[in-house]
Amino acid sequence: MFAKEPVSDNSSRRNFLASTAAAAVGGTLVSALANPPAVHAAGSDILKVGLIGCGGRGSGAALNAMHADENVQLTVLCDLFPDYLQHCKENLSRTLGKQFAVKDDHCFTGFDGYKEVMKSDVDVVLLCTTPAFRPVHLKAALEAGKHVFCEKPVAVDAPGVRSCLQSTSLASVNKLNLVSGLCWRYDYGVKATMQKILDGAIGDVLAVQENYLTNPLWHRGRKPEWTEMEYQTRNWYYFTWLSGDHNVEQHIHSLDKAMWLNRDEPPVSCFGLGGRQQRTEEQWGNIYDHHAVCYEWASGFKCFAYTRQMKDCATDVEDYVFGTKGKALVLKHEITSGTETWKYRGDKPSMYDVEHVELFKAIRSGKPINNGIYMSYSTLLAIMGRMACYTGQKVTWEMAMNSQESLVPEKLEWGAAPKVEIAVPGITKFV
Ligand SMILES: NC(=O)c1ccc[n+]([C@@H]2O[C@H](COP(=O)([O-])OP(=O)(O)OC[C@H]3O[C@@H](n4cnc5c(N)ncnc54)[C@H](O)[C@@H]3O)[C@@H](O)[C@H]2O)c1
Repeated sequence: MFAKEPVSDNSSRRNFLASTAAAAVGGTLVSALANPPAVHAAGSDILKVGLIGCGGRGSGAALNAMHADENVQLTVLCDLFPDYLQHCKENLSRTLGKQFAVKDDHCFTGFDGYKEVMKSDVDVVLLCTTPAFRPVHLKAALEAGKHVFCEKPVAVDAPGVRSCLQSTSLASVNKLNLVSGLCWRYDYGVKATMQKILDGAIGDVLAVQENYLTNPLWHRGRKPEWTEMEYQTRNWYYFTWLSGDHNVEQHIHSLDKAMWLNRDEPPVSCFGLGGRQQRTEEQWGNIYDHHAVCYEWASGFKCFAYTRQMKDCATDVEDYVFGTKGKALVLKHEITSGTETWKYRGDKPSMYDVEHVELFKAIRSGKPINNGIYMSYSTLLAIMGRMACYTGQKVTWEMAMNSQESLVPEKLEWGAAPKVEIAVPGITKFV
């Protein structure tokens, strides 16, 4: 069903996608930077890193970056909230030794804190905030000539995805690195398994069942002194405008594999079912607690995507791939064809470290990595599924890509927050 071509970040097809992406999103021309990034070919220069979003993942990403290259220092921290920043600063200063070089005047907070990071002399920024803010942070970082590590998902709505596609072109034109936090693409076992599937190990690939069935997550409560905006941004997971909903925030890891199996070619359309059965109280904002989406590609390939966050239910996280000659369990690194079973038995370094090893290697070698197309497409794949579940309508890729639904307020300030409305299929309209 698929042509057997090697998958490479530098393939001409991917470059074609990168150059057409800008056209697809309105054709705004991106141009070379007035101050291109410094070249670090010697390998011994100290690379300076700034972290934006000092929560769980941001603190982890900073550690991964420091593990990846001994000539790297963390010099800037930024978070929406001073208490999060302080907590992260104390932890990292204890664990990083001389690689921790953050001075007090290089710590920034608030909605505009990221602008100070861009003005600083860091070479690399780690974008690890709540997803809603990623498109603006990504654009600012690349315009400032910084290399980027960009956590998933990269947006919560189509305007955000379109912005990220433009930023992807900017990175490409200016030879800046853009490494995505879709970490399974950097996992040796998953990469080997996916490559074998793409090379024909299970014959023609017909379908994938993507399960992400887990328990519920955290809630951070409410304090009387918090404005509604502070309450929502601290409990960002439960508000669609901040997280994209859990099928975008979390299931994207699986949906990205469906995109990968299709060599990052987008699907034609999808339909979906979803709702909230356990998380019905006000504290759970407006996201659903389950989604089931069926995506279809022009080739006939289908992805059956199931995700649930409910307590006391069966859990399972796996990618079940079905082909004409066999099947594969991607996270188990296992492929079965006839009576033969292959299992990946190679090295298993932390995929989170590998992301940063490859980022710094690429900066130092002057051969940039740009994961912008797949991180944007996989984000839209997830958003498209949410749109289908929320509206009850069939949604095409073109509808999703051109959607005018803009969830993130243009002006961000403490005080009121977006209205919390729960989507009802058949009533909620596609925008
Ligand atoms: N790749 C992975 O395996 C993986 C794992 C966990 C989380 N993540 C992703 O990382 C991101 C963060 O998740 P987390 O678990 O660390 O959440 P978290 O709540 O622990 O941290 C988010 C941090 O970002 C800060 N923040 C929010 N908006 C900001 C803004 N505008 N400017 C500066 N700081 C801001 C918050 O105050 C908070 O400290 C999410 O996009 C999530 O999907 C990825």
